[in-house]
Amino acid sequence: MSSLSRYKAQSSTKRSTPSDRLRPKTTPMPLQLNTSRKPQVSVMFENHSTVSFPKDFTYNQQLQKGSEGHVEQWTHTATKTVIAVKVIQSSVSCPNEVQILRDLPPHKSIVGYLGYCKKQPHAEEASILLEYCPQGDLFTVRHGVVDKDSMAFSEAFMWSIYSQLMGALAFLHEGIDNQHPMGHGEWKPVVHRDIKLENVLVKRLSYKNECPGIEVRLGDFGMAGYYDSKDPNPLGYTGTTQYWPPEVTWETKRLDLASDVWGVAAIMHQLAHNFGPLVDPQVTANKWFQQNNEAPYHDSWPEHLKRSYWSSKAPRRPVPINLEPSAPVPVLADDRLGYDKNALALRRHIPSLKYSDALSDCMMAGLTMSPDERPESGILLRKIEAAYSDVLFEDLCLEYERETVLEDGELWRMRETD
Ligand SMILES: Nc1ncnc2c1ncn2[C@@H]1O[C@H](COP(=O)(O)OP(=O)(O)OP(=O)(O)O)[C@@H](O)[C@H]1O
Ligand SMILES: [Mg+2]
Repeated sequence: MSSLSRYKAQSSTKRSTPSDRLRPKTTPMPLQLNTSRKPQVSVMFENHSTVSFPKDFTYNQQLQKGSEGHVEQWTHTATKTVIAVKVIQSSVSCPNEVQILRDLPPHKSIVGYLGYCKKQPHAEEASILLEYCPQGDLFTVRHGVVDKDSMAFSEAFMWSIYSQLMGALAFLHEGIDNQHPMGHGEWKPVVHRDIKLENVLVKRLSYKNECPGIEVRLGDFGMAGYYDSKDPNPLGYTGTTQYWPPEVTWETKRLDLASDVWGVAAIMHQLAHNFGPLVDPQVTANKWFQQNNEAPYHDSWPEHLKRSYWSSKAPRRPVPINLEPSAPVPVLADDRLGYDKNALALRRHIPSLKYSDALSDCMMAGLTMSPDERPESGILLRKIEAAYSDVLFEDLCLEYERETVLEDGELWRMRETD
């Protein structure tokens, strides 16, 4: 198997094809919509404080299968508004994800919460009603884009994704938004704990018409919680170890606000390079088995847990994104850290674009190895926004210069013909 196909196979283990099963018969339950806040997409819900789910809706299809449940697409029959329904196994009356989403005021880069239905579609299940993001998640969009070799992840797209995701974090961590640019005094910080490409939903993507752009929403709050610096991860969630910063260990799982910042910057690294800011975990596993006869875990562990373990142990080594595509990257071939065949092959087969120094600096700031020196999300958001506006201003100046040169040339030619 080539390095690229191995990478794809590894990264897509959870994917399954949508099932075409018939929906089981269900008893309609009154759905208490969250009337304290305006749902972002569902204008219809503003006129109906209570609608019944699933009675007033039509089932369309299953969208994805996650580790804890699955996500379906439904349409509100009367208004034709499409929503996403996350079906989870639920023994508790109000799952974690619902508590967090329900309390959170709306934000343009966080998936809109519409309501929650206990015991639906089955007694042991529950349905979380969410704003529908028609383009799916960034993992899927990214692979579609790489395969089509399009320019979707140009410099402009990268800035846009980075500032939206850091904006979502600055809101969760500090309550920063347009109304509160310096944060919210009474804010209870929320830590997401599972930042990854699959949990970034894509609301809008267009790169072929006059209005290119991407609009993303941070989703999957299944591991999120209110942040307590003394005990940042009381339930010991693991999230996705590939996206862990260097200070988080398998033993402590101290996923905190600084880990979320690393996670978002790791997404940028993954988008640019097609590999994350860590040495291929297989290298760490191989090194272990060269020196030890036994695995450090029980043989009965499922494969995905073993992979997760080795990803947590792999050294972190961010690679800047302002390099020439053919430039050698010594850190990838560093034997002490681990000779990373996988990343070297990816650089050869799908080389990263050369992004600006400013974008690379902003990404590397989020990937600062020491958590104490890593900027907080609010500070990093301001850095990203300032750098992004400088880049836009420079583009504008260049454009103006080009137009002026053209006009002067035109004038010159007119004079010559006179
Ligand atoms: N609102 C939505 N609109 C469109 N697609 C969605 C939406 N919410 C989730 N999905 C799709 O369903 C997938 C799984 O959703 P989510 O991550 O919330 O569930 P999960 O069970 O917690 O997944 P996992 O445990 O694998 O992270 C997402 O990666 C995305 O592809
Ligand atoms: Mg998920």
